[in-house]
Amino acid sequence: MTKIYAYGVRTDEQPYIEKWVSKHPEIEVAYTDQALTAQTAHLAAGAQCVNTLQAVPYNHEAFVALADLGIKGITLRNAGTDNVDFEAAKEFGLRVSNVPSYSPNSIAEHAIIQMARLFRNLKPMDEKVARQDFRVAPTIGREMRKQTIGILGTGHIGKVALRIAQGFGANVIAYNRSQDPELAAEGLYVESFDELLAKSDGISIHVPGGPSTYHMFDEAAFAKMKDNAVLVNCSRGSIVDTKALLSALDSGKIYGAGLDVYEGEVGYFGDNWQDKELEDKVLADLLTRSNVIVSPHTAFYTTTSVEEMVEQSFDTAVAFSTDGTSPLEIKF
Ligand code: COI
Repeated sequence: MTKIYAYGVRTDEQPYIEKWVSKHPEIEVAYTDQALTAQTAHLAAGAQCVNTLQAVPYNHEAFVALADLGIKGITLRNAGTDNVDFEAAKEFGLRVSNVPSYSPNSIAEHAIIQMARLFRNLKPMDEKVARQDFRVAPTIGREMRKQTIGILGTGHIGKVALRIAQGFGANVIAYNRSQDPELAAEGLYVESFDELLAKSDGISIHVPGGPSTYHMFDEAAFAKMKDNAVLVNCSRGSIVDTKALLSALDSGKIYGAGLDVYEGEVGYFGDNWQDKELEDKVLADLLTRSNVIVSPHTAFYTTTSVEEMVEQSFDTAVAFSTDGTSPLEIKF
């Protein structure tokens, strides 16, 4: 019998897994809430494919252990693959897939909501109301329709974010190395990243993580941004140099930031640190700022996305288990 073993399963994913299983009674499915590591790989014994979602790296040792069990592939329930050691996967003949375009609206909506919250000063407003200070001032906002919103990256998510920003009536511009024909025909692209930095009152990042985007927002990039602009990152923490961001906030160069991701997030986001002192003082600092909104890598987290992530990755796991094909397989 074909068997899939899933790692890192949250309780909110379980109903969607059970729903998928009810439509595939011929497939045996078992799962754990633990991450896939060299130490937990043995749990997948008897399965042909593993299904995973985690922030910690999928490393060489874990792949050795999977290969020893005869596992044919690993199907990620998420989009990002920056934590996958593709060299090791290749060495052990493991096929890999992701879910590159589960509901792009989940992340795009979250990004533009963060941006609107920054422009309308809603974090300090909420703090003020929580103190029972019901005065109007000083949390006056800026209207989205009066802003130039820069979308960095116009793939599935960036394109939806762009349309949502247009829905607010904002003047939207975009930058991407290769241009989407529909957006190009509408004349939305600027020529360079620098031009996007210089012209935008708000920038939303929708490029993937990886070596080519590492610290794309460094000291030089912040210096080129428009004064008083806001930055939203719902992509990967590695894209923003947090030290440079803090300097830009401290000097008043930029107005605020919305961060769903943070370069030091592993070990924090996804865990409960309530009543414990954060060892990461940079994260602690970010949380105390009224002009910084932090959400713990939850932009993806909607019922629609979670269902699509489960369904598409489990369908691919069947394909890998039976030596079939899947459009979601990553060729490397
Ligand atoms: C992704 O899909 O890559 C994400 O960033 C969301 C996730 C880690 C659940």
